[in-house]
Amino acid sequence: MSSSRIRVLATGGTIAGSGGSAFGSGYRAGQIGIDDMLREVRSLGVEAELDPVEVASIGSQDIGWSEWDRLHSEILRAQADDSIAGVIVTHGTDTAEETAYLLDLTLDAGKPVVLVGAMRPADAVGSDGMRNFANAVRVVSDQAAGGRGVMLVMGDTVFAARDIRKAATSSVDAFRGFPRGPLARVTPTSLDWFGPPDRTGAAARFAWPDGLPRVAILIAGAGMDEKPVEALLGIGCKGIVLAGMGQGNAPARVLDALEKAAKAGVPIVRSSRVDEGLVDRNVEVDDDARGFIAARALGPAKARVLLMLLIASGMTGTAEMQATFDRP
Ligand code: SIN
Repeated sequence: MSSSRIRVLATGGTIAGSGGSAFGSGYRAGQIGIDDMLREVRSLGVEAELDPVEVASIGSQDIGWSEWDRLHSEILRAQADDSIAGVIVTHGTDTAEETAYLLDLTLDAGKPVVLVGAMRPADAVGSDGMRNFANAVRVVSDQAAGGRGVMLVMGDTVFAARDIRKAATSSVDAFRGFPRGPLARVTPTSLDWFGPPDRTGAAARFAWPDGLPRVAILIAGAGMDEKPVEALLGIGCKGIVLAGMGQGNAPARVLDALEKAAKAGVPIVRSSRVDEGLVDRNVEVDDDARGFIAARALGPAKARVLLMLLIASGMTGTAEMQATFDRP
């Protein structure tokens, strides 16, 4: 049965943000309720039947396990409902990367699921929220949108969850895709996919967990010693992602402390604090000898999401974990 009904799961963010002034710089995320937002969308002439559910109304810096758990079950419910064509999640851009990737790893690649946000609050001059939302409706309504995994629609561009990163703090064109670029270009009146769906019929890679373990991101800096590693282990981190220098490097004292942790059974993933590029095994750091996992194309935020899921799924072997990072 085909349908044009779209489930809209609202979580807050700048797309629902308000500053009370078109030219002010200060604002608060998650101020506008989903019913008000959809009233405005409809007044612009968007015709799809939009079916809202408010999951949260917060800035995405505060998104965590309880919102993720609710989102996941709401999306499963929508996917099982024949009257719903797909799902739009309105979300803050700061952690869209994490939510999109977590959902991507734990949902079947069936009906389209699209995250959408905004860089400017709803009442700011040049606000991008309504356009991004209209674009998201266009994507979810498209026959060719399914089977691509979770996507993000921002700035007239459609990205796959596994590729996205926020690369600018305030410009409207804030997201980049790596290692793959955009999946499509979209406007309220056009949509051009750059290739066919690549995951049609694919099952979720991971079961939804009962909870997520504490995993920290450690940013390497010049002159750093082993104390921050010891502090993270001291507060019970079950895994550490190193946002290393360059190709995931760190001062010798930091690497030695991380090696000790890896050999004691705490998985250590080497990613990079650099915006873009691969972190491969055994290039500058001897991962085989030290027992580390290389994040490959995943930046620290997405590497942390994958490591949390791996630990929650009970996986322990370094080689097994490395294989999952090799095909994010
Ligand atoms: C947030 O992530 O909730 C605030 C920033 C944004 O949405 O752009």
